[in-house]
Amino acid sequence: MSKNRIVVTCAKGISPYLEEEILGLGFPILSEGISSIETEGSFGDTLKLNLFLRTAHRVLFLLKRFKASHPGELYQGVYGLPWENYFSEESTLCITSSVDTETIRDSRFANVKCKDAIVDRFNQRIGKRPDSGPERDGVVVHLYWKGDRCLVYFDTSGEPLSKRGYRKIPLEAPMQETLAAAVVLATEWKGEGNFVNPMCGSGTLAIEAAGIAVGKAPGLLRSNFGFMHLKGYKEEAWKELHKKARTQSKKACSGKIVATDMRPEAVQAAKQNAMTAGVEQLIEFAVCDYSETPVPDLGGVIVLNPPYGERLGDRRQLESLYQGIGDFFKKKCQGYRGYIFTGNMDLLKKVGLRTKRRLPFYNGDIECRLLEYELYEGSRKRQRT
Ligand SMILES: C[S@@+](CC[C@H](N)C(=O)[O-])C[C@H]1O[C@@H](n2cnc3c(N)ncnc32)[C@H](O)[C@@H]1O
Repeated sequence: MSKNRIVVTCAKGISPYLEEEILGLGFPILSEGISSIETEGSFGDTLKLNLFLRTAHRVLFLLKRFKASHPGELYQGVYGLPWENYFSEESTLCITSSVDTETIRDSRFANVKCKDAIVDRFNQRIGKRPDSGPERDGVVVHLYWKGDRCLVYFDTSGEPLSKRGYRKIPLEAPMQETLAAAVVLATEWKGEGNFVNPMCGSGTLAIEAAGIAVGKAPGLLRSNFGFMHLKGYKEEAWKELHKKARTQSKKACSGKIVATDMRPEAVQAAKQNAMTAGVEQLIEFAVCDYSETPVPDLGGVIVLNPPYGERLGDRRQLESLYQGIGDFFKKKCQGYRGYIFTGNMDLLKKVGLRTKRRLPFYNGDIECRLLEYELYEGSRKRQRT
């Protein structure tokens, strides 16, 4: 498999952060969509992208593009690829797809056509075929079919990269790991100054912040990726890359990371998750109301992801909670950049502070915002004089 297009997907709205990351790893940007970035590289490059990208969901390596205006043409196009050279008949195969074409209504039919073409090719070339199923723990082939344009990829990630492997205890309303990483990147916090996270829930924001601060590659904990099931995979190259990633991660950062929640079980889960992620020594945990969170001197970033919907909390209580956050910011967090991540724009009005930036995000299908507040030392007026 020589150099080809690579599509890296992400949650809706976080492609600007993904783009920065891809550029930072030395890859070009060929195009950008709301939930994907197109770059290029070799199959070997997908190992690096899978290991280091914090905001990506899947790394798709393009195999072939062709025109198909009906399922028969899809079958022929897929059958034409030398699948027996790409992976063994002992592997298990999963087909995923994104289909938007008038010729079929149910994308599962396209998946079946695709799978049939691959297993028929195996049967005819070597007399045996791989098993197939919905699990993404073996070879994953992804089909993109829009109008009459078909693109066939290997999903080199397999399970989405948001599953880092540290969140064994998710609790209610957890933030996806990749979204939490994008939120931390949006705050531009990189380990200098403090990172304070009241209402930490299962600890995702603090854990991602710790990983960013010490440069710990997000894929280090995972033992299975889609690329591992392909013949082009060189275990030695992966071990080498893994070792390099482990050695380049720092032991400590200069700023403090503080994570608190009023529920003891949340703090317990956050600690456990941080331990699994190998960053618990970087985070100071406490059980307390957000307003009692110890805010270290010298400023930094303070991020809250308060409850915001039907899932947690009742409306009137939430209004006073958001109002209280405004007071807490004003009184206790001077010298910090304050952030609130929420999916409820009405509640934000209760904060009562002037916003500096409003960054759009999505949490699943819920449209969210990350609001930034500049919390000046003393009053703004005094600071200007
Ligand atoms: C939306 S969840 C945060 C989820 C978190 N970002 C994660 O990834 O798991 C909101 C959290 O706020 C906490 N919380 C609500 N009211 C609080 C208060 N007054 N003081 C401290 N924590 C509070 C809840 O216990 C819950 O864990």
